[in-house]
Amino acid sequence: MKAKGVTLKNLSKIYPGKKGNKDVHAVDDVSLDIEPGEFVTLLGPSGCGKTTTLRMIAGFEKPSEGDILLGGESIRHLTPDKRDTAMVFQTYALFPNLNVYDNISYGLKIKRLSSDEIRARVTEILKLTGLTGYENRHTNELSGGQQQRVALARALVMEPGVLLFDEPLSNLDAKLRVQMRTEIRRIQKAVGITAIYVTHDQAEAMSMSDRIVILKDGKIAQAGTPKDVYYRPNSEFSANFIGTANILHGKVQKMNDDDTVQVLVEGILLDKVPASGKVYEIGSECAIVIRPEACSVRETGVFEAEVTLSTFMGSYQLYELELFGNKFTIHENNPKTKRIYEIGERAKIELDISDIHII
Ligand SMILES: Nc1ncnc2c1ncn2[C@@H]1O[C@H](COP(=O)(O)OP(=O)(O)O)[C@@H](O)[C@H]1O
Ligand SMILES: [Mg+2]
Repeated sequence: MKAKGVTLKNLSKIYPGKKGNKDVHAVDDVSLDIEPGEFVTLLGPSGCGKTTTLRMIAGFEKPSEGDILLGGESIRHLTPDKRDTAMVFQTYALFPNLNVYDNISYGLKIKRLSSDEIRARVTEILKLTGLTGYENRHTNELSGGQQQRVALARALVMEPGVLLFDEPLSNLDAKLRVQMRTEIRRIQKAVGITAIYVTHDQAEAMSMSDRIVILKDGKIAQAGTPKDVYYRPNSEFSANFIGTANILHGKVQKMNDDDTVQVLVEGILLDKVPASGKVYEIGSECAIVIRPEACSVRETGVFEAEVTLSTFMGSYQLYELELFGNKFTIHENNPKTKRIYEIGERAKIELDISDIHII
C-alpha cells in the first residue's frame, strides 16, 4: 500500500447565509502538511469545521478557496471516485442486503479485479480486522463493533492513499470505544496508511494520534503531538479543550537568566516558572496553566483555598477548591495512604513550579 502525503493549502469553505443570514465560514484558511503514514486527528467542538474539511478532502464538498494535494498532486478537480481516498463513517453506511464478504469486496468488483485477486485481498483484510469466519454473516447479524470493523475493512481493501474517518466510534458504548481506538491504531500502523481522523473526543485524539490539529471556528488553533498540546497549549482554548486545565491570570515581574520568569498571581509571587525559550515583557499580562495531576492538597503550599469537593475516584482523590473565586481542580493520585481533606476544610495547594506552563 502506498501511503500518500496530504497538503491543505489555504483551504476555505463558505456556505452562503440563507434568508439574509450571514455567510458561514465553516473552514477558514486552513493550511496543513500531513506526512505519508501519519495519523492526524482533527479535534474540536461541534460546528468547528471538522466534517467539512474531511468532506472536501474526499471530494463530497467543493472548496470555496484553496487547494488539496494528495501525494503532491492537486485533487481539487477530481470526483470522489478518482481521488484515491476512502472514508469510514460514524453510521458505517454498510449495504444491509449484502453479507460481510460482499460488503468488503464491493468496491473491488466495481474496479473489475479478477475474482482470485479479490479473494486474496479480502482474505487478508478479514484477517487484519479480526473478521475471519464472519464472511457469510449479514450486517444485521453483527454487533456495532463488528459493523465498524467491516466499514474499516471495506475502506482498507481499496488500498487508498489516505484513509478518512469521521467520528467512527461515536455509536459504540464507552468500553468498546476504548478497545476500538487501539484496534484502529494497530491496523493503521500495520498497513502504514496515512489517516485523517475527525473527533470531538479529546481522549480519543490523545490516545491515537501522531499529531492533533485543534480547530476552532474553522481555523487551526494549534497543531502538535499529543504531548505538545497537553503540556504546551498555546491558548486558553487549547488548554481547556485538551484535558482539564487550571488557569490563573498574572503579570510577568521579571525574566531570570536561566530561562525562567517570575509571575505575580493575586499578590503571590511564583518564581522560576519555565519560560520555554520565550521572552516576556515585564509587566505583561499572562495566563498560567496548571494540570490537575501536577499539584497536591497539603498542609503547606503556595496558595491557600477552601475545599469544595472531595471525592474518592479509586486511583485518585478528586478535589475542587475555591481559589481567587474560581474552581481549581486537583487529582491527588493514589490517595490510599494520604490525608484526605473534606469539604469545607481549608488547605494549601502545593505546586511543582517546573510543571507550570505560561501562555
Ligand atoms: N451544507 C451546509 N450548509 C450550510 N452550513 C453548513 C453545511 N454543512 C455544515 N455547515 C455549517 O458549517 C459549520 C461547520 O460544520 P461541520 O464541518 O459539520 O462541523 P463539525 O464536523 O466540526 O461539527 C457549522 O456551522 C455548520 O452549521
Ligand atoms: Mg462533524
